[in-house]
Amino acid sequence: MKRYLTSQLRPGMVLGESIYSLEQDRVVLEKGTVLDERAITRLKLQIAIAVLIDEDETPEEEASVPDREPSHAEKLRATPEFQQFKQDFEETFSDFGNKLNDVVTAGADLEPEELSAPVMDLIENTTGPSGLFDMLHSLRQYSDETYAHSVNVALISNAIGQWMNLPPADLQVLTQAGLLHDIGKLLVPRDIITKPGRLTEEEYRIIQQHAQKGYELVKDRDLDPRIKNAILMHHERCDGSGYPSHLETEAIDPFARYVAIADVYDAITSARVYRDALCPFIAVEIMESEGLQKYDPQAILTFLTNVVNVYLFNRVRLSDGREGEVVFINRQHFARPTVRTGNEFVDLARETELSIEAII
Ligand SMILES: [Fe+2]
Ligand SMILES: [Fe+2]
Repeated sequence: MKRYLTSQLRPGMVLGESIYSLEQDRVVLEKGTVLDERAITRLKLQIAIAVLIDEDETPEEEASVPDREPSHAEKLRATPEFQQFKQDFEETFSDFGNKLNDVVTAGADLEPEELSAPVMDLIENTTGPSGLFDMLHSLRQYSDETYAHSVNVALISNAIGQWMNLPPADLQVLTQAGLLHDIGKLLVPRDIITKPGRLTEEEYRIIQQHAQKGYELVKDRDLDPRIKNAILMHHERCDGSGYPSHLETEAIDPFARYVAIADVYDAITSARVYRDALCPFIAVEIMESEGLQKYDPQAILTFLTNVVNVYLFNRVRLSDGREGEVVFINRQHFARPTVRTGNEFVDLARETELSIEAII
């Protein structure tokens, strides 16, 4: 038996211990489970930092990776459009980081229009919200920098706004709200923000102060009130389970509700460094399993429908190794569409032991 970091896990390894949920109230994976990609993703995202592996039961690693079709993300990354997007994205977030730092540490003016101009350019250069979203997804393996999260949330918020048919003026404000939502994090000690591993209760409480602290920083400035509210309320949840004030749906600014969806989605998809972009169906499954009642009902439906639609008619690989095509989206369960493999239709909402492992 040996302990492995979740980043070292590979399919075929056999768990040497049972893994419990965060609340320690149920077994998530039994001792003796043979890990597949899906189980590994779950471990990385939600449960453990390191797990015990039974090496006697684990077969030797195959010498060479069998030939497989390159993933959708790999193919997209090879295109000139993607290379350009990546370059623009990196320039945008480093520039944004410098400017924001000046606001917080040197008392510079906060100019949302100027700050968001490069982000709006980035959006202009993509083919609509779905193209933007797809690019962003495939960018994952590159960007884990501090300010990348802000730019990601700005771009995803913009996509949500477009999918919700907001007018252009609102779209711009929403994008700015996404860009600035975590400004308060610059006022929280850096060693806590960047601490690897699980936080203590006290550290968690300190991090949670970023919403209020960010609001204090901007409340007297000449800024659109929706941006101020997004900074203050992006961790509020529609069912009252959020912070800092346990507000419910109507009391939460709609822009904060939209940014909240973008924020959670980005946190899920960038939680760890992946070998490949996290399959969006897994990200959607995690949001669904945590409860969609936390989010703006109309916005979350619009968001999930469109995210999943980006990959409608795409080829995917199922967890049993079969490949097929997403042919039908299930609005009761977005992460579990119907996939056609050969002449067979696999309804993942019924065949719950299967899942989509990768988009190819
Ligand atoms: Fe936040
Ligand atoms: Fe955030």
